[in-house]
Amino acid sequence: MTHRTATLTIDGKPSIEMPIYDASEGPSVIDISKLYGQTGYFSYDPGFLSTASCESKITYIDGDKGILRYRGYDIADLAEKSNFLEVCHLLLYGELPDQKERDQFEHDITYHTMVHEQLQFLYRGFPRRAHPMAIMVGAVASLSAFYHDSLNIYDEKQRELSALRMIAKMPTLAAMAYKYSIGQPFIYPNNELSFAENFLHMMFATPCEKYKVSPKIVSAMDKLLILHADHEQNASTSTVRLAGSSGANPFACIGAGIASLWGPAHGGANEAVISMLEEIGDVSKVSECIKRAKDKNDPFRLMGFGHRVYKNYDPRASVLKESCHEVLDELGMHNEPLLKIALELERIALEDDYFVQRKLYPNVDFYSGIIYRAMGIPTQIYTVLFAIARTVGWVAQWREMIEDPQTKIGRPRQLFTGSASREFVPVEKRGAAKARSAA
Ligand code: ACO
Repeated sequence: MTHRTATLTIDGKPSIEMPIYDASEGPSVIDISKLYGQTGYFSYDPGFLSTASCESKITYIDGDKGILRYRGYDIADLAEKSNFLEVCHLLLYGELPDQKERDQFEHDITYHTMVHEQLQFLYRGFPRRAHPMAIMVGAVASLSAFYHDSLNIYDEKQRELSALRMIAKMPTLAAMAYKYSIGQPFIYPNNELSFAENFLHMMFATPCEKYKVSPKIVSAMDKLLILHADHEQNASTSTVRLAGSSGANPFACIGAGIASLWGPAHGGANEAVISMLEEIGDVSKVSECIKRAKDKNDPFRLMGFGHRVYKNYDPRASVLKESCHEVLDELGMHNEPLLKIALELERIALEDDYFVQRKLYPNVDFYSGIIYRAMGIPTQIYTVLFAIARTVGWVAQWREMIEDPQTKIGRPRQLFTGSASREFVPVEKRGAAKARSAA
């Protein structure tokens, strides 16, 4: 914090002096909280292009340089040297765990992976064709109906318990959504397996057959979880914070975050990437697709390209590009037609002026979709996997907000451009009134 200030001049007169707060890295902020009280004006920033909605110590992004750090650690380092549960510890508590803390945390998560047996009846109420994200929005929010002993957000121990429960139970709920959709029995979690392997086990094992998976595939899945674990104040995280600012319970807030993540401009893009590649169908049609993406009269966009914050290569995409090739090597799938289309799309887009000038690089969803497909994960589960990983970020950000004494209920204002005050017209006179106003 410094004593610098910014002065706003309105109609030629200096009207308000506002404090400037320095960031430890990245842009400083101008505190405009007294703007309305002192000038009668609101600020206007649709899409929050210039607005910091909170103070946070969790994740740092420099979109121009392509930097992403969790609690100061570079994402590529964490993906290479750490594992998902260590990263969860880092995001939640601020530090990588020592051996004892790591054992304890792994134990705590492992022993919360089962879900209330009654939840299967909730699942059975959904049509089999339901999108797994539709089930997840409902199932995660419904945890608040099952775990009453961790709903008091003002009790630190209950906050801790609900955090562990959500991180631990998400893979179980996600795998149940998949099993339900294909009519197979739900598979219980196995406490001997790692977080990533346990998820794959619940997805692909059956009561008749164990699921055997290579350590390379488990490691790729773990990396994917690390890379998606947090991303500062994105749409779903801001949704969780806004929902939580009213004092809503954490399960309901994470349910709201999942709803926001579902959109194709956010987490739903990895699914959209595969649909797009399937639609292209052949390498020879790639240039036609690029043409469409550049046509301003065509709403089509290249899915998996561009990012609100990264105007450079998405650092997560750099890690995944490598991981993608490792997975395809391991599975002997380098001749997979969709991958060929994807690589050709990437090659042309990276050379094309339209994409170069607008700094539209492949984002994390571009490669994650291809890896999931190679692993045999059904397309509809891609965004669910994103939600499993992001849950720790949502929980860490939610806790930071609840523990921040500055927190107030989130209540944006608006630029009202609707009708001025009007007199009520009884129904029998409305036709005549409309005709008069049309004349
Ligand atoms: N294909 C073609 N053109 C694009 C694309 C794209 N994927 N993305 C942006 N553009 C163009 C826009 O048309 C615009 O062009 P103009 O300046 O000539 O009008 C310019 O690039 C800037 O685009 P904006 O929409 O202003 O950029 P914004 O930062 O608001 O959007 C977004 C970011 C939503 C991610 C966008 O790039 C997009 O729709 N991408 C495809 C969907 C996608 O992959 N989403 C995943 C995001 S990553 C994540 O959530 C983990």
